[in-house]
Amino acid sequence: MSFRQFEEPSHASLYRKYREKPPEHLIERIIQFLKEKYSGPLNLVVDLGCGSGQCTFFLAKYFNKVLGTDISEAQINEALEESSVRKCDNIEFRVSRAEEIALADKSVQLITACVSAHWFDLEKVYEEGRRVLCPGGVMAFLCMDGLIAEQGNDLQRNLEFANIMEYANSKIEPYYAPPVAHAFNKYRDITIPYDDLTREYGYEMSSTANLSMILGAIRSFSAFQTLCKVKGLEEGESFIQQVKTRFLDVANVPNDNINENVFTIKRRYFVVMARV
Ligand SMILES: C[S@@+](CC[C@H](N)C(=O)[O-])C[C@H]1O[C@@H](n2cnc3c(N)ncnc32)[C@H](O)[C@@H]1O
Repeated sequence: MSFRQFEEPSHASLYRKYREKPPEHLIERIIQFLKEKYSGPLNLVVDLGCGSGQCTFFLAKYFNKVLGTDISEAQINEALEESSVRKCDNIEFRVSRAEEIALADKSVQLITACVSAHWFDLEKVYEEGRRVLCPGGVMAFLCMDGLIAEQGNDLQRNLEFANIMEYANSKIEPYYAPPVAHAFNKYRDITIPYDDLTREYGYEMSSTANLSMILGAIRSFSAFQTLCKVKGLEEGESFIQQVKTRFLDVANVPNDNINENVFTIKRRYFVVMARV
């Protein structure tokens, strides 16, 4: 069964604006895992379900060439715009299903999928991986836990922020498509059928953010987009306003200016990876 959730240009544009990139030390760990048994040149990496390039751009400094592919034309259009801003000349983006990788046999050293593997028909992806990966090549699926918002070391207030995020998640959770359960389960139930399977958890990403960025991230969730389709935009907007009011009741936000960077955002990433 296929799930097409990231097709609307408006969703792809929110996605590019508000979705975080993965932590660099996680990308470095994946490259280190590759180099444990592969000592040749890093010629080609493919980032499947690349969205607007959250992980793809990171890979450019390690590989001679990076290919980002996504089933959604809207996401690829955003990735191409981002690429023209960043002026990266070793990255190519293509609209393509993860289950069909249009590359030569044994030509790829690394296949990544960031926050996207749970959407794929994985048996087909494993088969394509076996074909295109060179000996010792690695497939790595990375993903993250829910968003944590904090303000300084006020632990009581931080608990209230956790309550607000739990409230927000509980409202949209019924609208997640079934594959997202794999991400909630930290990919424990995804087993890449290659050698040296490794699972790791706890790669932390931390950044400063304002309330509009937190609300934007919530808007970019597939479940929020589905809620708006099922219940209507008005109900979606009223939910966002409720979350905003709850944050403003608790947070120290000068003059209720939701564009002041007063939050620390934390996310913990996990990875499952293996080599052919
Ligand atoms: C949650 S987004 C992740 C985007 C980006 N990699 C990131 O780190 O934020 C999931 C992406 O997977 C894409 N996708 C879903 N099913 C796919 C498939 N079968 N083949 C390729 N891409 C797919 C969606 O279009 C979407 O852009």
